[in-house]
Amino acid sequence: MACRIAVFGTGYLGATHAACMAELGHEVLGVDIDQAKLDKLAAGEAPFYEPGLDDVLKANVDSGRLRFTSSYKEAADFADIHFIGVATPQKRGEFAADVTYVDSVVRTLAPLLTRPAVIFGKSTVPVGTAARLSALAHDIAPAGEAVEVAWNPEFLREGFAVKDTLHPDRIVLGVDTNRPGRAEEVAREVYGDIIAEGVPFVLTDRETAELVKSAANAFLATKISFINAMAEVCEAAGADVTQLADAIGYDNRIGRRFLNAGIGFGGGCLPKDIRAFMARAGELGANHALTFLREVDSINMRRRARMMEMTRDAVGGSLIGATVAILGAAFKPDSDDIRDSPALNIAGQIQLQGASVTVYDPKAIENSRRLFPTLDYASDMRGACKGADVTLVLTEWDEFRSLDPGYLDAVVRHRRIIDGRNCLDPAKWRGSGWSYRGMGRR
Ligand code: UDX
Repeated sequence: MACRIAVFGTGYLGATHAACMAELGHEVLGVDIDQAKLDKLAAGEAPFYEPGLDDVLKANVDSGRLRFTSSYKEAADFADIHFIGVATPQKRGEFAADVTYVDSVVRTLAPLLTRPAVIFGKSTVPVGTAARLSALAHDIAPAGEAVEVAWNPEFLREGFAVKDTLHPDRIVLGVDTNRPGRAEEVAREVYGDIIAEGVPFVLTDRETAELVKSAANAFLATKISFINAMAEVCEAAGADVTQLADAIGYDNRIGRRFLNAGIGFGGGCLPKDIRAFMARAGELGANHALTFLREVDSINMRRRARMMEMTRDAVGGSLIGATVAILGAAFKPDSDDIRDSPALNIAGQIQLQGASVTVYDPKAIENSRRLFPTLDYASDMRGACKGADVTLVLTEWDEFRSLDPGYLDAVVRHRRIIDGRNCLDPAKWRGSGWSYRGMGRR
């Protein structure tokens, strides 16, 4: 049955969720305070690059099932099912998450709720947030305790956001187990089509649901840092981390996914989420449990430093006056997101050490220019590699993976390539007369 749903926040999470809920046949109102974003969305255009999202947005805006507004009043009148999908960034100068935006949705929305309603939080929050917001909503909503707060974490990956929302690995729902209310029934209605496909529905308490998300991201970050630690050992021992990952990955208990060594993880989630998780565990008196995540974080940051060293070595020991080409700025392929991007971070550091740096990325140039206006940008690979003493591949876009070395031969000054994502075929590059170096590879 079609539900009426409001989704607060129209960033990555919120815009995708709103569009996908409409795709499931619901009537959806997306709510944000940023009018420019709302105007774009209302025209059926995502304010960021995400494969397939524009089509879903456009189809559902055109059908009238998906609308956008800046009015909380309109949302409270329209729907009794509310999703929170606003950001929870890292606090300035601290590890902890800043939950101001999540709080502010509840503080603004709850006083307008005169009928029974369910608020589903999707944002990644410190454990305990749902219970706190629930008490707050009961206090300030005219409908009082008839307003329920449940937690329904989102696991979508950028680049696969639509698929991950419409065909998730699982749906997790945390409810107030002392007073379960209607949240489960409502969630089963909203996600009816997805559940019918056999997607597991994990019903739990709110604290566990909040922790599931933090734990999943901590595990993924740990897996990446594990293989990057192995890359350090492989480098020291003259071994090859890619073959090592393939070999251990055949063991089903380990699995090959998320074992790609390179310059490490970035983005708007993993780095800040592991830090927020450590901070929250500390507040709860369980800080020892997560001290290993500090190491996960430092291994990850060492990868960026290692890429600097390798670049310096490649150009003869000093970056001053060197010309460096950088292919890739986004934190991962199929995204224009540059939040905490290892690629862009390395580009900036190399420039600060005196090199002249030109960056090319298929989608992320505009965002990069805004963050790092002092770097040079090119509109294609050849432009970036012109006169390069060394070329670095820092995001594994298909365009770079399938690159024929001969395409760059005429423009570079020296045929040297460093593969920060271990995504190129060393034999192909070496066979074409290039010096190739990967990370943790012979
Ligand atoms: C992540 C989680 O995967 C997702 O479930 C959660 O909801 C949000 O955070 P995302 O940030 O989109 O998703 O990116 P992800 O695909 O997890 O990659 C994160 C970073 O790890 C990227 O910088 C990527 O390049 C890096 N990575 C990934 C590696 O360095 N090696 C790998 O093997 C995999």
